[in-house]
Amino acid sequence: NLNIALQYSGINFPGHLHTLQSMHYAEEFKFHDTDILIVTYPKSGTTWMQEILTLICSDGNQAPAKTIPNWIRTPWIEHYYCEDILQDKLDNRIITTHLPFHILSKSLKQSNAKVIYVARNPMDVVVSFYHFHKMAKFLPEPGTFGEFLEKFLLGKVHFGSWFEHIKDWLSHREEFNFLFITYEELKKDLRSSVEKLCKFLEHSLLPDVVDTIVWHCSFTNMKDNQMINYTLVPNEIMDHQRGKFMRKGKVGDWKEHFTEEQKQHFEKVFQEKMREMDIRFIWSL
Ligand code: PPS
Repeated sequence: NLNIALQYSGINFPGHLHTLQSMHYAEEFKFHDTDILIVTYPKSGTTWMQEILTLICSDGNQAPAKTIPNWIRTPWIEHYYCEDILQDKLDNRIITTHLPFHILSKSLKQSNAKVIYVARNPMDVVVSFYHFHKMAKFLPEPGTFGEFLEKFLLGKVHFGSWFEHIKDWLSHREEFNFLFITYEELKKDLRSSVEKLCKFLEHSLLPDVVDTIVWHCSFTNMKDNQMINYTLVPNEIMDHQRGKFMRKGKVGDWKEHFTEEQKQHFEKVFQEKMREMDIRFIWSL
């Protein structure tokens, strides 16, 4: 049964990908100083960042991005298959995680790996997550948007609370080689974002290579790449009739889903929970 969750550290994770053993593997993981770790709450731009970093690390060569599924070339450390993929790979590793900070902190503290945290306006995250719940058979039925929104605000969804995720990771940013970047920034100016990433990674690229990356990583191009649009995943796991993983790729789609009342409620909760944090999102473009 795909719907059986693994409960770990008080949080539900999809049980077909996460096991006790894979969680322990993540907790004890030996990061290398050359590792690049993408950290995201789901639906925040994970796939986009996986693609951008793949292209930066291949100096714009599109072959890996077009022939290897993203879950193999940039595996999630907490997924059961990760150990097999990484065991013979010693360098050029791009690793992904949705885990909250406290699960990874111990292993990460012992390394100098580069950490890239991608965040997205949570109103767009909840909308994207809601649609994803409809197609992903390993997630619970979301009910109405209003019902799902309540659960999201209470942190009672798979992968835990968005608020805790971002607060915990960002409050420890000084301890790591850490870059914070937003989905909205990528959307507004992908070229500058790629340049910023190159600088952080100390990986310089020629301007025409940057052009190739920007072109390759546009929503229009990415949505047709089978290696990242999840159409390779069988219908029993993702119901492709009920939606597309590469759905809209927009900033501000929350406006099509929230009532005025839901918006005000969301903003109130956001202000309360995020009071001590100095982060601002672009709420629409
Ligand atoms: S997951 O399941 O956590 O890995 O999902 P994640 O990749 O973090 O988020 C999926 C959303 O990101 C959008 N996306 C993009 N938007 C703009 N440009 C590009 N290139 C791009 N690639 C992925 C994707 O469409 C999902 O957002 P929504 O709002 O549902 O369209």
